Amino acid sequence: MAAGWTFSVLRLLPVLVLLFGSGFHETTAFRGVAARTTQGPGEKQQQVDLLQKWPNHRNAYATMMYMGTPRDYEFYVATRVLLRSLAALRVDADLVVIASLDVPLRWVRAMELEDGARVVRVENVNNPYKDQTNFDRRFKLTLNKLYAWSLVDYDRVVMLDADNLFLRNSDELFQCGQFCAVFINPCIFHTGLFVLQPSDAVFKDMLHQVDVGKDNPDGADQGFIGGYFPDLLDKPLFHPPASGSAVNGSYRLPLGYQMDASYYYLRLRWNVPCGPNSVITFPGAPWLKPWYWWSWPVLPLGIQWHEQRRQHLGDMDQRCQWW
Ligand SMILES: *[C@@H]1O[C@H](CO)[C@@H](O)[C@H](O)[C@H]1NC(C)=O
Repeated sequence: MAAGWTFSVLRLLPVLVLLFGSGFHETTAFRGVAARTTQGPGEKQQQVDLLQKWPNHRNAYATMMYMGTPRDYEFYVATRVLLRSLAALRVDADLVVIASLDVPLRWVRAMELEDGARVVRVENVNNPYKDQTNFDRRFKLTLNKLYAWSLVDYDRVVMLDADNLFLRNSDELFQCGQFCAVFINPCIFHTGLFVLQPSDAVFKDMLHQVDVGKDNPDGADQGFIGGYFPDLLDKPLFHPPASGSAVNGSYRLPLGYQMDASYYYLRLRWNVPCGPNSVITFPGAPWLKPWYWWSWPVLPLGIQWHEQRRQHLGDMDQRCQWW
């Protein structure tokens, strides 16, 4: 255990150098990426073509990005790591980023051209709950998540927060029904990962419910979506049919699709005996998010996240090449 730990730390020293060295600045962190965009005319044409033919798959993994938090850039990096780690798992789905109109164009282009994502630009959903007591301003634009229901050229969408770490291909989630989510908390499902069937009718109804200020305990996506599907706890557990076909209805997803990082820290190993150990999530305090450099020496799962960053983005940084 101790030897393994030391080994991991040594192996990840380059990441430390990268993170300190780059000061987490976009210009250095993605210098290699920028270099890759200068290419022959044929390749460029291919990428332009790529931009034009959406959807490419029946299903999609989607995440959202918006501006105005103190940590926009970190979320951008996290989103790119998520996109690339999904691609590395060879998911049979499009990767969609629901991005607010003010997300910088160079970020949009990087996600489209370098990460192969479909970026859907949206106007921010006005948050009518922003003046209620206990409202955390950090969550003001999380209602943009509702745009997931507007992605009607997909059969199913797995909607993700950027703080999910996939341990394996989880495409069987697309076999779930109209709405499926994980109960990390025994009573309240978590909106960091859920499966939905896009629907214009549901999307319009949700926006209407937002407009009329439907009760929302936290004023965020979590409270709103929780209130929109109030009976999910009584629904059956999802088991993907062996035939590969999709089921209809609402289901609870096994806990293995949202393994709370804090479970891991209780025992320093996973202990979800029932169901797949597929996705780790980091729902805790913002400073525990894996993309802050301190998470890797302090929190072992941060190492795993930074290893994904190193594999998918970090190696392209020229600072790594002398190492
Ligand atoms: C689910 O509903 C769709 C649309 O109504 C239908 O085509 C499909 O056969 C249903 N699937 C199952 C497993 O019942």
